[in-house]
Amino acid sequence: MNTERLISDRARGVSASGIRRIFNLAAKLDDPINLSIGQPDFPVPAAVKRGAIEAIEQDKNGYTLTKGIAPLLGKINAHLRFDLGWDIGEGTGVDSFVTSGTSGALTLAFLALMGPGDEAIIPDPYFAMYPYMATIAGGTAVRCDTYPDFRMTAERVEPLITDKTKFVLYNSPGNPSGVVGTVDECRDLLELCRSKGVLLISDEIYDEFTFKGGLTDVARGDGKTRRCPSPARFDGAQDDVLLIRGFGKTYGFTGWRAGYAAGPEPVIAAMTRIHQYTYVCAPSIVQWGAIVAFDVNMSAHVDDFEERRDLVVSRLREHTDVSVPEGAFYVFVKVPERLGLTSNQFVDRCLEREVMVIPGSVFSDRDTHFRVSFSAPRAKIEKGLDIICELMRG
Ligand SMILES: Cc1ncc(COP(=O)(O)O)c(C=O)c1O
Repeated sequence: MNTERLISDRARGVSASGIRRIFNLAAKLDDPINLSIGQPDFPVPAAVKRGAIEAIEQDKNGYTLTKGIAPLLGKINAHLRFDLGWDIGEGTGVDSFVTSGTSGALTLAFLALMGPGDEAIIPDPYFAMYPYMATIAGGTAVRCDTYPDFRMTAERVEPLITDKTKFVLYNSPGNPSGVVGTVDECRDLLELCRSKGVLLISDEIYDEFTFKGGLTDVARGDGKTRRCPSPARFDGAQDDVLLIRGFGKTYGFTGWRAGYAAGPEPVIAAMTRIHQYTYVCAPSIVQWGAIVAFDVNMSAHVDDFEERRDLVVSRLREHTDVSVPEGAFYVFVKVPERLGLTSNQFVDRCLEREVMVIPGSVFSDRDTHFRVSFSAPRAKIEKGLDIICELMRG
């Protein structure tokens, strides 16, 4: 049978990721200097591992409720009350549920909100999944050009909003740039979306990896805490913001697939309806493991990433423009113009020297920058930087 002709236009609209090209080339190398990794390089905290192992041993291996297990939902809702001041649950008009990874939440959001003819505004550069999700949902991803500082401001978004716009997708700390939006930027974007009747989706998968310069004071009871700025933290934001967060990056279990979504009840209800007939539920044992995650202090790892960030930025700045990442574990670096190379050409030169980085075209309509991940051993980072800087000198 010619099965090729059976493939849907939807699937044809999704091309193999440009990241795969790099991995295929790198597969020929014995011990590459891998600065392409999109996940943390620390082990899962012992308490989280134990929670999942005990769940298996205690035969908690069956389906869970569509929305997730009650103890985890309780923890999520308590955390959002502490962090954002949100009240979630019966009678509040706001709801939450556990998803199969942050990607699971994003997929459901696109499917629940977008159809043919609809538009979503996404940042450019973007997390590689965003435009493809719009394609899969039958709609269009409208790129908001955020170069050169990678700030998705209300000023940049406003001209792109049309009567077809369903939502604006905001991502801070951002992948691939690590840039963190300010409180004012978050407020202005929320106000804009409210005034236009457009939902603001906030992908905050890297929120716990925010460095000192990106944090803002948040009043809590008699004291204050320091958190990543979020459009979800303003009064009444829970009526206008769909919040999407994850566990995988924060606690090092990306392969376990766990995240969550919270926001206006009608949106969460639509997403959970699709969840019920697609994913069914997030993986059960992972949910049991994630219960203890909120009680684990990850700040030593965040400090460690901040030190590596300083190292990477200080070296690269000698050769090119770098927007300082205040979060995540990436930096998005411009190929020096005088080299006359696209980012793909530059990345190929890096690969010839056994250094793996990701070309900007994976994340953008432009081919001018490349992503360096500093989620790698310090010695490898230093060796990789030596080679990248040598190539930048030309
Ligand atoms: C901005 C952003 N959102 C979502 C995801 C998906 O994460 P998850 O592994 O939780 O599906 C990623 C993963 O790289 C990401 O960078």
